[in-house]
Amino acid sequence: MRRSFKLLAAAATLGLALTGCGGSGDNSADTAAPASEATGSVGVFTWWADGSEKAGLDALVDVFKTDYPDLTFDNLAVAGGAGSQAKSVLAAQLKAGTPPDSFQAHAGAELQDYIDADQLEDLTGFYEENDLTSQFPADLIDRLTVDGKIYSVPSNIHRSNVVWANVDVLKDAGIDPEKPAEDLDAWIADLEKVKKSGKTPLAVAGSWTQVQLFENVLLASLGVDGYNGLWDGATDWKGEDVTKAIESYKTVLSYTNSDRDSLSDWAPATQLVQDGAAAYNLMGDWAEAKFTLDGDKAGTDYTYFPMPGTAGVFNFLADSFTLPVGAPNPAGAKAWLTTIGSAEGQTAFNKVKGSIPANTTAKTDDFSEYQKSAIDDFSKDQIVSSLAHGAAVPVAWLNELSTAVSKFGGDGNVATLQESAGATAEKFAE
Ligand code: GAL
Repeated sequence: MRRSFKLLAAAATLGLALTGCGGSGDNSADTAAPASEATGSVGVFTWWADGSEKAGLDALVDVFKTDYPDLTFDNLAVAGGAGSQAKSVLAAQLKAGTPPDSFQAHAGAELQDYIDADQLEDLTGFYEENDLTSQFPADLIDRLTVDGKIYSVPSNIHRSNVVWANVDVLKDAGIDPEKPAEDLDAWIADLEKVKKSGKTPLAVAGSWTQVQLFENVLLASLGVDGYNGLWDGATDWKGEDVTKAIESYKTVLSYTNSDRDSLSDWAPATQLVQDGAAAYNLMGDWAEAKFTLDGDKAGTDYTYFPMPGTAGVFNFLADSFTLPVGAPNPAGAKAWLTTIGSAEGQTAFNKVKGSIPANTTAKTDDFSEYQKSAIDDFSKDQIVSSLAHGAAVPVAWLNELSTAVSKFGGDGNVATLQESAGATAEKFAE
């Protein structure tokens, strides 16, 4: 990430939640006509409906239109960051047997949900036809493979544990923008300095952005093993270390904007930093896309660093695209997936989206300094799975925990959050 970062991990240990998946579907996409014979329109479901996210999708669609001039792209995006609205709309469509031609799904536990429900076609043959297996990192392919089959094509890799900061606001508060806090306590001391300077220390929005903040405070407080253990049962949710982590979350939350629940999505929270109203925003690196799109300059206007206490850890999430069972235009969907998987598609999309390509053959020479640092970090850091973005736990677990985290935003009751998060874990953990 920043040149000054101390990378702790000697070797990356990919702890993605896709390991050990055991899907039961035996569908095959091999019977669909090849992408080259596709005609008509291709309906693609995402939540990239606005701003920099839509700009990323548009860049991808431009490549698709060049690759397949005879196909029409039908944009089925449903607004709401992290799929906050889209996922329930999609669930209803899948239940009704009226899926789109392709939909966005997070790699990891969320994808597993769809596989377990037999809602996805097997794309193993598609990977072979397009020689994709050799173009994605072997670790990622291993983790996309369920009982020897692959069910989606990843479009990008994002990082959730990034703090974005306004350079001038930090300076006014007496904080050196070049020397980010190295642990939670030091960051809390900096948050206090900003508060004294009269600005909002930390910008956050409602719902999932608070879950994302929560996951990264847990990671900073419990460390990699402790954090991973929350999702596989190795960490006791009732433990004192978890109490301490939730208390730290409470402290961090006390430095956020009081209107957080009324901010509709992540972009207005990031905007507070851009406007100089707030010092910091903990946000996945789609924020880089917004800074860039809005003409802000890294180093001068804004700076970034890993969530204090998580340097050397890459809190991973990836978007991927599927071929749903019953898709109206499977050949068209294969055409879309071909563009998604291609080096050209990945370069065009990720450059605008703030993420890094999953396809290792994609050119990244003109990517931003942040993105180049993320590519470097992904190759060296310890990798953990994001809670808020479908990598760590299934959707039902995430939904229940999100409700508890939202409630905590109102009552600040540490014991209640700890108990309900623990009960949820017991209910869903295998
Ligand atoms: C994530 C998704 C990212 C970005 C973000 C904010 O869940 O993986 O691509 O869209 O939500 O909406």
